Amino acid sequence: MDVKEAIRNRASVRRFRTDPAPDELIREMLEAARLAPSGCNAQPWRFKVVTDRRIKLELARAAHRQNFIAKAPTVIVCCADIGGYIDRTVSTMQDLGKLGEVASRIVDQTCKNAEEMRKMDAAQIGPVVAFNVAIAVEHMVLRAVELGLGTCWVKLLDEPLIKKIFGWDDNMHVVSLLAVGYPGIEPKQREKINMEDILL
Ligand SMILES: Cc1cc2nc3c(=O)[nH]c(=O)nc-3n(C[C@H](O)[C@H](O)[C@H](O)COP(=O)(O)O)c2cc1C
Repeated sequence: MDVKEAIRNRASVRRFRTDPAPDELIREMLEAARLAPSGCNAQPWRFKVVTDRRIKLELARAAHRQNFIAKAPTVIVCCADIGGYIDRTVSTMQDLGKLGEVASRIVDQTCKNAEEMRKMDAAQIGPVVAFNVAIAVEHMVLRAVELGLGTCWVKLLDEPLIKKIFGWDDNMHVVSLLAVGYPGIEPKQREKINMEDILL
């Protein structure tokens, strides 16, 4: 399957077969996430793979009782490591500056921005880091199509409640859940707006 086909065949799946999504396929999806692009190559994504029935029930509850989450064989909790993001942004930019690949003016500005970020509270900085994670999540989604697995993004969630389940502090920002499993019904592509409608 080529990328075009994976993009065309993808559709959110909310009904799953009961058999597990094999560990090696979940690993393949995580590998696709690992290779995603990110600002300053900071790679802030962190993932918790959940198959435990009780924890999946808690996650479904924390996602405003979207019960299909508990029925997915695997749920991947997709997070952003905020401190790690800032540290890696600074170190990558400093390295690029030393190599002469980035002008010192850009290095200084990026490092200054990063230091400003350290002063922000989690609610402010979380969404800034989150879009890097979103790219990695979509890498997983497309790889899943190729592997015959179905997925559904879940963003409607109570973040503090999810952090409480795992005992995470404010350094970890929960970006989304990703429900994963073999589709229980044939995924049906949903209607999309036309090309003319997206061009400005
Ligand atoms: C950022 C994001 C958040 C989403 N959150 C939820 C969610 O909380 N619950 C849900 O059932 N679907 C969620 N979805 C799936 C969308 O409803 C779905 O992508 C949309 O209806 C289009 O359908 P398609 O994915 O089959 O093309 C989310 C999708 C994205 C990209």
